Amino acid sequence: MAYTRLPSPDDVPDQPHKMYLASTAVAMSEMFKIIVCAYMIYSAHPLQKRSLRKLYNNLYTEIILQWRETAKLAIPASLYLVQNNLQYLALSLLDAATFQVTYQLKILTTALFSVLILNRTLRRIKWIALAILTVGIALVQLPPEANIFTFGAFNTQDSAAVPSDLDDDPHGSLAKRAPGVAPENTLSGFVTVLIACILSGLAGVYFEKILKAPPTPPPQQYTPLSQTDKESASPSPISYLDENPPPHADLVPKEDDALPPTAGIWIRNIQMSLFSFVLGVVFIVFLKDGKAVIRNGFFQYYTPLTWVVIGMQAGGGLIVALVVKYADNILKGFATSISIILSSLVSIWLFEFKVTTTFVIGSSMVIYASYLYGL
Ligand code: C5P
Repeated sequence: MAYTRLPSPDDVPDQPHKMYLASTAVAMSEMFKIIVCAYMIYSAHPLQKRSLRKLYNNLYTEIILQWRETAKLAIPASLYLVQNNLQYLALSLLDAATFQVTYQLKILTTALFSVLILNRTLRRIKWIALAILTVGIALVQLPPEANIFTFGAFNTQDSAAVPSDLDDDPHGSLAKRAPGVAPENTLSGFVTVLIACILSGLAGVYFEKILKAPPTPPPQQYTPLSQTDKESASPSPISYLDENPPPHADLVPKEDDALPPTAGIWIRNIQMSLFSFVLGVVFIVFLKDGKAVIRNGFFQYYTPLTWVVIGMQAGGGLIVALVVKYADNILKGFATSISIILSSLVSIWLFEFKVTTTFVIGSSMVIYASYLYGL
């Protein structure tokens, strides 16, 4: 993502970058997720029994008929939407490194919400492990020239090369900022990061709660009576039902069409992505980049690499969902911390990233914290 956000050689000085719009890329990654999840539901049926009609029935039943369940996903979708946008705001108030370091507080807010909302108990040793993880991953993300004791006055030029997954600067304001100059709005920046951390924890834990809730029973199944049933049975509510099929009877899945038990996670993700897509297009693409879209189109300056980034964002989001389902949000904090270390190592040859003592100490703390938490 950092690579695709680098200024293009075709750029004219003092004119906006010839850069794809981040808002449309985010919307497209939601669309990607919907397509992938639909395919996963389709292929969750046994090979010989797959059909588009069955997929349609599953989607119709789960998303439209069970609209109360769908509505629940509007909450994490909106929380994530606000959180994602607060990250952009925080990045305009703080330099990228300060943002990256302070944003790690989300590990602790996530643990707090896991205790409050999911009634999890965390023993003291786990809190200690989480605190070590938070400090460790913060150290890992300090730029090489940063002096810990002049916190907030980092050189943004280098630190911007190792962005968060949502680090983004469509208008190049970060790149234009003079190196070594601390942004003025440090306090509002910190408050913004704090709110983003709270929303990150809340959205993640709320999604986990929905994902791990026992499935609600499907709508009453409509099974037409056979001729022998009709002849033998005395008039009953069922035969009455048979004469007067309920509305949507043809759409309520027969036993064979029922949603495979493993497909719940894909339905939840489609439900959430539908909200994210609609809210994202209406509020972010239209309100933030509406003029640019009218001027140069929705897909302006897209390159094949843009699609690769979109695909990775979508895949990353779905993996987050799998981690939350089969592990939990706290373990996700460990997983992403280790992924930051691994991507820093890849940055050694991609972005000339230099391994510093702080990086080594931070990485060791992350690894030690993972071990301690695992105990
Ligand atoms: O910063 P944080 O760890 O909270 O970010 C998690 C990211 O995972 C968010 O950007 C969110 O959009 C994404 N996500 C997703 N699908 C899910 C859950 C989270 O794309 N089911």
